[in-house]
Amino acid sequence: MRRVTFMPDNRTTEAKSGVTLLDVARSSRVSIRTRCEGKAGCLMCKVQVTGEGISAPTAAERQKLGIEASTGLRLACQAKVASSGGCDLIVTIPEDPLKAAVRRQLQQQEDDNLW
Ligand code: FES
Repeated sequence: MRRVTFMPDNRTTEAKSGVTLLDVARSSRVSIRTRCEGKAGCLMCKVQVTGEGISAPTAAERQKLGIEASTGLRLACQAKVASSGGCDLIVTIPEDPLKAAVRRQLQQQEDDNLW
C-alpha cells in the first residue's frame, strides 16, 4: 500500500500497487476528467506526479505526451502505483478551465469590493 495525495483537493488515500491513478482517484471520489475512459486517447487525464513510487511511463504516454524520460507529467489512466521504491505520491490535477475562469472572476469581484 502507498499513500497517494490528490491536489488541490488535498485528499489522501491508500492505494494498492498496480492500480492506475485514475482508478485510485475514482475510488477516492476525486474527479479527473476523461473522454476515452482510460484508453490513452483523449489526454484529458494529464496529471503532475511528485514521488518515485509510480510505474515508468508507458509507450503510449511517451508518444502522446512527447516525453522521453519521466518528467512527472503522466496520464492518470496509464500510470500505476508501483510496488517498490520511492515514497508517498502527490498527484496534482490541473484546474478545470471553466472553474479557473469562475474563480478568477470571483477573486476580481472580491478585490473590487475591497476598494
Ligand atoms: S482517460 Fe483518456 S487519456 Fe487517460
